[in-house]
Amino acid sequence: MKQILAIALAAMLAVPAVAVPKQRPAYRDESRPIEERVEDALSRMTLQEKINMIHAQSKFSSAGVPRLGIPELWCTDGPHGIRPEVFWDEWDQAGWTNDSCVAFPALTCLAASWNPDVAMLYGTSIGEEARFRGKDVLLGPGVNIYRTPLNGRNFEYMGEDPYLASRMVVPYVQGVQDRGVAACVKHYALNNNEINRHTTNVILDDRTLYEIYLPAFKAAVQEGKAWSIMGAYNLYRDEHLCHNSRMLNDILKGEWGFDGAVVSDWGGVHDTRQAIANGMDLEFGSWTNGLSEGTRNAYDNYYLAKPYFDLVASGEVGTDELDDKVRRVLRLIFRTAMAYDKGDGSMCSEEHYAAARRIGNEGIVLLRNEGDVLPIKTDAGRKRILVVGENALKMMTVGGGSSSLKVQREISPYDGICAAAKGVADVDFARGYVGDVTGEYNGVTTGQNLADSRGAEELIAEAVAKAKDADYVVFVGGLNKSAHQDCEDSDRAGLELPYGQDAVIEALAAANPNLVVVNISGNAVAMPWVKKVPAIVQAWFLGSEAGNSIADVLFGRVNPSGKLPMTFPVALADNGAHATGSYPGVKRDGSDIVDLEYKEGILVGYRWHDTKKIKPLFAFGHGLSYTDFSYGKVSADATEMAADGSINISVPVTNTGSVAGAEVVQLYISDPKCSVMRPAKELKGFEKVYLNPGQTKTVTFTVKPDALSYFDAEKHEWVAEPGQFVASVGAASDDIKGTFKFKLK
Ligand code: BGC
Repeated sequence: MKQILAIALAAMLAVPAVAVPKQRPAYRDESRPIEERVEDALSRMTLQEKINMIHAQSKFSSAGVPRLGIPELWCTDGPHGIRPEVFWDEWDQAGWTNDSCVAFPALTCLAASWNPDVAMLYGTSIGEEARFRGKDVLLGPGVNIYRTPLNGRNFEYMGEDPYLASRMVVPYVQGVQDRGVAACVKHYALNNNEINRHTTNVILDDRTLYEIYLPAFKAAVQEGKAWSIMGAYNLYRDEHLCHNSRMLNDILKGEWGFDGAVVSDWGGVHDTRQAIANGMDLEFGSWTNGLSEGTRNAYDNYYLAKPYFDLVASGEVGTDELDDKVRRVLRLIFRTAMAYDKGDGSMCSEEHYAAARRIGNEGIVLLRNEGDVLPIKTDAGRKRILVVGENALKMMTVGGGSSSLKVQREISPYDGICAAAKGVADVDFARGYVGDVTGEYNGVTTGQNLADSRGAEELIAEAVAKAKDADYVVFVGGLNKSAHQDCEDSDRAGLELPYGQDAVIEALAAANPNLVVVNISGNAVAMPWVKKVPAIVQAWFLGSEAGNSIADVLFGRVNPSGKLPMTFPVALADNGAHATGSYPGVKRDGSDIVDLEYKEGILVGYRWHDTKKIKPLFAFGHGLSYTDFSYGKVSADATEMAADGSINISVPVTNTGSVAGAEVVQLYISDPKCSVMRPAKELKGFEKVYLNPGQTKTVTFTVKPDALSYFDAEKHEWVAEPGQFVASVGAASDDIKGTFKFKLK
């Protein structure tokens, strides 16, 4: 007791202690430059800790450095919503009850909005959902170019044009990262079909690579400042793209100065030495096909785990590459998991539903509207609307591969139409056709029972009988998210609509003049009945608010303003990848490799159609409105442009109709005389303008030499050849309203 008192007395008499600040290691000090923190952390790590950091420890996480308090890194799919939690090392969902998300529209829809502000809204919204769920890396967005309408994964990408995809991916990336979550731009690169995705070796010339397939990735890296990028499954120059020396070392990290981490696609790494040398930084999902096989993985046996450790320990390989990989992963962690001011995010907020609905509203494309059948007129008395088709009911957020979601709610087209019709119309339903009645992905089920045992004739007869009594017939069909539709790991069998839908549509067209076809898909489909159907709407996969977004447009609460981000060809043979006989490639003798030569070169999408003069079903950039826009004269502030200068090209656009609307004004450039082949024209600018009835706005595009140039593969540089150029301004690639000719000096 005496002793205690003595100590207490001494303490009271002592000089008051100055609080000694706890020594914070430099790597934990956010006020220091990130590179200093990275070097500090790296200098403290053991070889084993470094190795542990560059490969998975579970399906979706890597280990961090527990001893140093450097946290784990958690990834999630992406790109349309936050994937439900799966077991530690199995694909099946873990059965959480609080991991339902908002599904945002698929990226094709986002691209169809032609509105970078909407891409920013998408990025911040999904970033907040990822943040709330404690994720550090969002596996998306995808910007592989739409080369063939058969690609099962086109719905996850942003269309066929490198300029459009570039303008749309940058704000998405910035938005996600603003919320403290890294975007992981995928699948870098040349992963333009799903069939043979692990064995296809793409062959293409450098001009095509640089002009068509790289720009969106480059923009995401250099302008969006993406913190991570995902390698693709397939091969280029006989090396898998997850350890491809040219694509990762030379172009991405060399030419573009990418300082983030290259993440493998799940199961995309195949070789330790190549992964060490060729720029792979963070290995995930080995021994799986990314979707199903290999439910249990021995993480220590990953290519960048023990095999790498042993090579370093035995002195067979040095540590330069290892340190570079660790630096990149540390940077990624400091920017995300260890960013102290990143906020908490939010999940399933009404703001996120509103964002999803707005993205859908802006991306829906009115393809055809003869006789102004749309919007549905409800002013002159109560109407009878017949809805036909499986896709009016089917939940589309479950399925499709790794982008499959577990949503808190999903409004079907039928429910959206019923809600909008309340008080003004009676809605009836007929099935029309039976397509795919399943609804399960990795243990997430839709809970819908879509079974119907009736045959095609019976279903059509029912629909036709009901259609005869209706004021409007709305057929909702298209594709879905099951294999060989719009789905990962398989391609479509053809351009045609599946399940006999053409026959249903033909029968409905004969029964009722006010037929509206709503096509749900991420891909172009053939429409042999196009002339018989007065109104056609391209409605993509629209996520949680699908039905509301569609009903907004059908009932005219929203004036459609989307434009196609890809060409709809009449027939498959009209597409360059198919016309040239290139797709799906040729199997190499005595090997699994399928060589796929991109024979159409730079003539992808509308570049092919325009240059070869092949009329599409619906052109790139096409999309109608409920109002009319008139374009004034296209003018410019100069007729000549200096080699380092620019010119401004302007056009006044007026809303001459009676409702407010938005028009996407598009600028295409042509180089009619050039020493190399140039496409007929190429998109180099666009702006979405919102106009009230009678209102005029002048849209101005600043054109710089880079918009005039082609990639000279021999010189390995962009070249703009002096001479005359044509600027074409229009409402679609096949609807040019005016041109202006100018000279590059
Ligand atoms: C897909 C990726 C996805 C990954 C993780 C792979 O099958 O190709 O896009 O991010 O799985 O689910």
